[in-house]
Amino acid sequence: MSIESTKDSPRLQILLVDDSPMNLDTLLATLGDSYDLRVAIDGQGALDLIAGGDLPDLILLDIMMPGKDGYEVCKKLKADEKTSKIPIIFLTALDSDEDEAKGLELGAVDYISKPFNPAIVNSRVKTHLELKQYQDNLQGLVRAKTQELTEAYKDLKQVHDQMLQQEKMASIGHLAAGVAHEINNPAGFIGSNLNSLQKYMVKLNKGIAFMEQALKSVDDPEITVQLKEMKRKLKFNFIQEDIDDLITESKDGIERISLIVRNLKSFSRAEDDTLKLTDLQKCLESSLSIAWNEIKYKARVEKNYQELQPIKCLPQQLSQVFVNLLVNAAQAIEDQGIITVTTRQEKDWAVVEISDNGSGISPENIERIFEAFYTTKEDGKGTGLGLSICHDILQKHQGTISVASDMGEGTCFTIKLPMPDS
Ligand SMILES: Nc1ncnc2c1ncn2[C@@H]1O[C@H](COP(=O)(O)OP(=O)(O)OP(=O)(O)O)[C@@H](O)[C@H]1O
Ligand SMILES: [Mg+2]
Repeated sequence: MSIESTKDSPRLQILLVDDSPMNLDTLLATLGDSYDLRVAIDGQGALDLIAGGDLPDLILLDIMMPGKDGYEVCKKLKADEKTSKIPIIFLTALDSDEDEAKGLELGAVDYISKPFNPAIVNSRVKTHLELKQYQDNLQGLVRAKTQELTEAYKDLKQVHDQMLQQEKMASIGHLAAGVAHEINNPAGFIGSNLNSLQKYMVKLNKGIAFMEQALKSVDDPEITVQLKEMKRKLKFNFIQEDIDDLITESKDGIERISLIVRNLKSFSRAEDDTLKLTDLQKCLESSLSIAWNEIKYKARVEKNYQELQPIKCLPQQLSQVFVNLLVNAAQAIEDQGIITVTTRQEKDWAVVEISDNGSGISPENIERIFEAFYTTKEDGKGTGLGLSICHDILQKHQGTISVASDMGEGTCFTIKLPMPDS
């Protein structure tokens, strides 16, 4: 490595500290051609120069000086983090081992004895400047490597966190598939039993009404009284009415359970994966009719369809995305609102927007809405799986889903799906 100054790099700076003009003259003559030299004639002067200007690359420091001696200056410089790395070479007529040891203990890198031999001065200065530069380079290298390692660690941690999240989602998926499977059968037969029960009740009520009518013609007052008493005691009329309500409520409950099961099933992705060329507007129309029950009392639907070429997708899954978004939009509207459905083509993307003028989503909630099981809805109304399923489905389609929302103004979900290569 060369320490020669070039046109591009400024000359290295050396601070000479000595109270003897003769010594200073010798040093200036020896080093002046190769380096930028600054001069101080006592200890305090040296400290002031260092504090007030650029840090020198090396200091040649006399020990015996009036006022602050070299040892004191060296101690001060080594104690300050800013100046502690500047190499100091002591200049001294003292050549006892003790003095050398004291100087080296204080942190000096070397000694040059007086009277000076220019060749020795040059060689020592050059050696220590080179060492300093090696040290600086090494430190720079260590800093750069540390930075690289820190970044690599950050990346690794991010990948690790993502993998953990994926694993978590996969195990939730397995769990969900298992639970859905277990619930599906009993939910199925409870639903079908409730339907039969409802039909039977209609017949039973008809039969009871007929029998009551027939009993009116029985001319036995005792039986009539007993019958009345029994009906009163058993709360017959109330039971007849209540059975209907109970069946209707139970059917509603089982419908909700089936919805959860359907959601859990698609969350675990146990579906056919063959892409079909699909007209997105037709898919939207069928989704609107599925979600219509939720929408009809809440919102007017405005359609803003621009022509779209068919895209390759899993239409049932996309329909599920649209239904989820439409139901969410309807549920975000308190009384009456508008849901706008827009389609358009943007370069190589088919774009679908579903927006509402409902409650909007607060900035702290919007970060979490795509998380599985995150819901702000009351118990029984939301599982919190809707948007996380939408996100998964779009990822599977190499598409994106994004959201923009203003509290009190409304929300807009934008879906982008890649157009097939022409
Ligand atoms: N259009 C919207 N307007 C306001 N908030 C919304 C809208 N869409 C979603 N959200 C918020 O995001 C949350 C998560 O939505 P997501 O569809 O995942 O679950 P959910 O609707 O609560 O339950 P699920 O869809 O499983 O029945 C909702 O609980 C709601 O707070
Ligand atoms: Mg939802």
